[in-house]
Amino acid sequence: ETVEWDPEQTGKGEYDHFMLKEIHEQPVSLAQTIEGRTDPENGRITLDELDPGVFDGIESVQLIACGTSYHAALYGSLALNRAGVRARALLANEYSVATPPIDEETLVIAVSQSGETADTLNALRLANAEGAKTLALTNVVGSTAARVADETLFIRAGPEIGVAATKTFSSQAVMLALLAHRIGADVCDTRPTDPDSLVFGLDRMPDAIDDLITSSDAESIARQYDGSQSYFFIGRGLGFPVALEGALKFKEITYNHAEGFASGELKHGPLALVTPDTPLFAVFTGVEDEKTLKNAEEAQTRGAPIVAVCPAGHRAVDIADAHLEIPETDPTLAGLFANVQLQLVSYHAARLLDRPIDKPRNLAKSVTVE
Ligand code: G6P
Repeated sequence: ETVEWDPEQTGKGEYDHFMLKEIHEQPVSLAQTIEGRTDPENGRITLDELDPGVFDGIESVQLIACGTSYHAALYGSLALNRAGVRARALLANEYSVATPPIDEETLVIAVSQSGETADTLNALRLANAEGAKTLALTNVVGSTAARVADETLFIRAGPEIGVAATKTFSSQAVMLALLAHRIGADVCDTRPTDPDSLVFGLDRMPDAIDDLITSSDAESIARQYDGSQSYFFIGRGLGFPVALEGALKFKEITYNHAEGFASGELKHGPLALVTPDTPLFAVFTGVEDEKTLKNAEEAQTRGAPIVAVCPAGHRAVDIADAHLEIPETDPTLAGLFANVQLQLVSYHAARLLDRPIDKPRNLAKSVTVE
């Protein structure tokens, strides 16, 4: 199979940048990711492309990835834990020096948009050599990762030209949420989380993302906090990888200092950096939101403006200085909506600064050296 995407032929259309086009494509790319993999009528996750029994004997899962894909992997590891499966996400470039125990009962999932990242391929080859079962989760048919792994799942997000990954992150995370249910059902034979609610949420996700993009206040919030010293992002549970990804996107394309923290860690050091000149974006996913709100208020007391990323009517809206709205949805999906809002904030912040959004300095879409 060959790769048929030609960047030159894939125009920006009505958009000024590929990044904005790709953010707006998410209703379609997510529909493609989900298509045929769920059975909405019966509230089931099918993933029939994986043979029955493919996960027999698997005791634990390791997810390996770099950059934005690592944040999707972290999201996936938490979704797997919620489904009752032992799982952890590891940076692919750390894997060879700090290799956790691997054997035939370990499933190693390489998460890579391009399927060509050298660090991730090295880790994947190491896992193969150690006898693990391996699975590649990638966007590119015919990529090296797809050829090297035992099994492959394609996220089907379509070509992504902007160096900063956007729609592929959303598709990777959704794919991993589906996979978590399938592995949970195969390995634990339990229904730890509610598949009906996830399948229902997924079914409505494309339209809901469309609504979110159309009504987003991200541009005015980016303008409001333009010129700040640093930008902080917090979240807990499934909101934590979203906070990390929000900060990574922000630094990649605005060149401003941004950092993501687990909400509960803010008080263990980062709070020393908080001033009226450091806006804080707080992601609420519906799990332990009261605690995250407390953490955000600690920053607010030190003068930091708070941007709450949460549904309308959430208690955080009353306390925060600004609000980015997400719909009420399954807790597994809430963070992915929040992430789309944060993608838009980064885009508009970079645009105000006139940055080369699609090709940030020093960065490459795919890094094929170690
Ligand atoms: C590069 C890109 C990142 C990407 C990372 C992993 O550093 O600039 O946006 O997340 O590689 O890429 P992959 O293709 O493996 O997902």
